[in-house]
Amino acid sequence: MTDADLITAARNAALKAYAPYSGFSVGCAILSDEGQLVTGANMENACYRLGICAEQSGLTAAQHAFGLSHIAAIAVAGGDGSGEALEGEQVCTPCGGCRQALLEASHLAGRDFTILCASGDGEKVERLTLSTLIPHGFGPANLTDAR
Ligand code: THU
Repeated sequence: MTDADLITAARNAALKAYAPYSGFSVGCAILSDEGQLVTGANMENACYRLGICAEQSGLTAAQHAFGLSHIAAIAVAGGDGSGEALEGEQVCTPCGGCRQALLEASHLAGRDFTILCASGDGEKVERLTLSTLIPHGFGPANLTDAR
């Protein structure tokens, strides 16, 4: 699967978002080291703060399908999902909470991740490492002094 295919999968996943409150649909596509693909999308709630982000939805699917330690590639795309295809010109990067969730998976995989961050229309893509997105992050290794 090419990077373009993974971005297309993320854009298509965004069309399955439940985002009536923000109107912003996000999709996340995660590929395993054996080529298995899972996707997730944001799912909002009338109690706004209980909404779930696309990345966390995708990570949960990845854990169930093949385990977080087997993640090989990740793409995220966000924009207007009200039409037949995801639209929008702005590149969507993972929010702070999702960066933290991705950091946990990165620890389990034993390596830094490159996240393909795409605009809704898929025209703009930024390839950003997780260590760039969350420098000096607090991960499992920071708990070594716990009792
Ligand atoms: N959202 C995601 O799903 N992932 C992100 O990384 C950024 C934000 C969702 C949350 C909310 O449903 C909508 O986008 C607007 O913030």
